[in-house]
Amino acid sequence: MTTWAVDSGIESSLREIREGIKEGRFPARAFNDQQIFDLEQQRLFPRTWCFLAHESEIPSPGDYVTRYIGNNNIIVARDEQGQIHANLNMCRHRGNVMCKSEMGNASHFRCSYHGWTYKNSGELIGVPYMKEGYEGRLKRKDWGLVNVRIDTYAGLVFGCLDPRTPSLEEYLGGFQFYLDLYLKQGEAGSEVHGPPDHWVADTDWKICAENFAGDGYHTPVAHQFGFNLGYFPSSGSTHSQGWAASIPGRGHGIGLGHSPNFPPFGGFPEELTAEMKRTLSPAQIEVFSKVRTAVGTVFPNLSFLMQPFSLVPGETGVRFVTMRLYHPVGPGRMEMYSWCLVPRGASQEYKDEAYKAYTLAFGQAGTFEQDDFENWTKVTRSAKSTMVKNIDFPYIMGMGSERDPDFPGPGHVVRPYVNDTNFRNLWGRWADYLVGDVEP
Ligand SMILES: [Fe+2]
Repeated sequence: MTTWAVDSGIESSLREIREGIKEGRFPARAFNDQQIFDLEQQRLFPRTWCFLAHESEIPSPGDYVTRYIGNNNIIVARDEQGQIHANLNMCRHRGNVMCKSEMGNASHFRCSYHGWTYKNSGELIGVPYMKEGYEGRLKRKDWGLVNVRIDTYAGLVFGCLDPRTPSLEEYLGGFQFYLDLYLKQGEAGSEVHGPPDHWVADTDWKICAENFAGDGYHTPVAHQFGFNLGYFPSSGSTHSQGWAASIPGRGHGIGLGHSPNFPPFGGFPEELTAEMKRTLSPAQIEVFSKVRTAVGTVFPNLSFLMQPFSLVPGETGVRFVTMRLYHPVGPGRMEMYSWCLVPRGASQEYKDEAYKAYTLAFGQAGTFEQDDFENWTKVTRSAKSTMVKNIDFPYIMGMGSERDPDFPGPGHVVRPYVNDTNFRNLWGRWADYLVGDVEP
């Protein structure tokens, strides 16, 4: 295996960055830098559990999507027996891309270069001129597509390239408690409402990961139109209320926004609320009933948001869930995948209303989405300027805060909702990976 030399300057900088995070500082440079990008590709994405697909995206035999782990393009396909496989999207003969579309249905993939053909599970079954060319020297079983280890949680399929990384269950480390708020809204679980919105942005993926790890601070400013017009039921005076919950040392974090006047389970139809109360644990129900907005990131680059959005100003509106994946394609550049998730067992009427609310708020041209990327592209641009080289940002909110003793959910949980605690945890884990010191 080739080992790529790493410039010793960046190594010592990263150790300094890691110490700075503990003291509440993080460098602007991290958000648009070629060396950092390269290290993330080498040391972060191949070692973490990366989200690949929701099972409902590929419900039938032969269904597939192509996704990424770092810069590796992966085919995620359901075979004839219903089992899901993940394989590197590369022909083992000369390296051509096997599957050129982002989603579809196929029992086999045939390479367009020399014609090697594989089952959708990755097994090599067809080699042109097998007898005449290879004269018995090629064993088909040795040349299947390169398989990728997968693991699932509540319909989410993750892949990992490093056999030493612990199981997904251990990696999530208790964050499942909070993921269930999005994924177990009813006995049948969740499903995607159509394919993801997918677009490219001149934004560092990490800015999105941080924002969705619980940046309640930006909402009344960046999204003030939503507040002022009454589409979003919160007010600037109470918006800081709620909690920041994180799994220490794992990088995962969630912001839980509370509005004193927002009704428990507001924005869900009654029958769905009743079903959620049967599905979730008493502690989860208690948390859910207090939460208006839940916005969380699974380290490194998968996020979820649940919030109400009203089409009639002043009314409670509909609570929707979006799931989003930030795929880095270069320093300061990413591809966004954004899904609307709905409870599988909900009425079609609720699913359509939730999708409409999602689209207006967080679809590609959604009001909240536009507000965010307007800011994020500018942060990314600033990060590239030469003066920024030695500038740090303050991450000192909530430093030294005690855990809220009354909060029933796991992890380190502090008040208020407006907080930097989750971000220090996120960046601490990120620095551990980049330095190369990750305890499995
Ligand atoms: Fe936002």
